[in-house]
Amino acid sequence: MKDKEEEREKVRALLSVLPPEKRYLMLFLHRVQRETGWVTEEAQRMAAEYFAVPVSEIYGLVTFYSAFRTEPGSKNEITVCQGTACHLRGSSRLVEELTRLLGMKSGQEKPEKGVSLKTVSCLGCCALAPVVVVNGKYFGRVRADQLSEIAGKLQTRNDE
Ligand code: FES
Repeated sequence: MKDKEEEREKVRALLSVLPPEKRYLMLFLHRVQRETGWVTEEAQRMAAEYFAVPVSEIYGLVTFYSAFRTEPGSKNEITVCQGTACHLRGSSRLVEELTRLLGMKSGQEKPEKGVSLKTVSCLGCCALAPVVVVNGKYFGRVRADQLSEIAGKLQTRNDE
């Protein structure tokens, strides 16, 4: 119960810093995803009321864009964009390197390590290609030689 109230408070706080205009809805959803790890039904309902849009529209957004989750995921989530812009700028090499570093393939989850690795077709920030998202944090223009540092941090985070 306490967790739910804490979550509501986080959502209220995130809403309170944005004007109640529909154009801020996506920004709000990204922030909720980053702060809480997923966009709960309650967060969707609160956003619907605040931005005066049908909750069905918000549900459509969070289920359409793979940047959002509607249920809790792994402790460490890594997403590599494989859309056209990212692909042209070497995202396949990033997937290969992460596969090697983590000992897992895209689409796999390693419960014992609390890590999941997935690819998506566009994250909507192509100017930053290639893009990798780690636990909701976006990294742009990522090079393969930067990934071992990211993987090292995941291990540390998992050991906490
Ligand atoms: S193609 Fe990767 S962000 Fe659009």
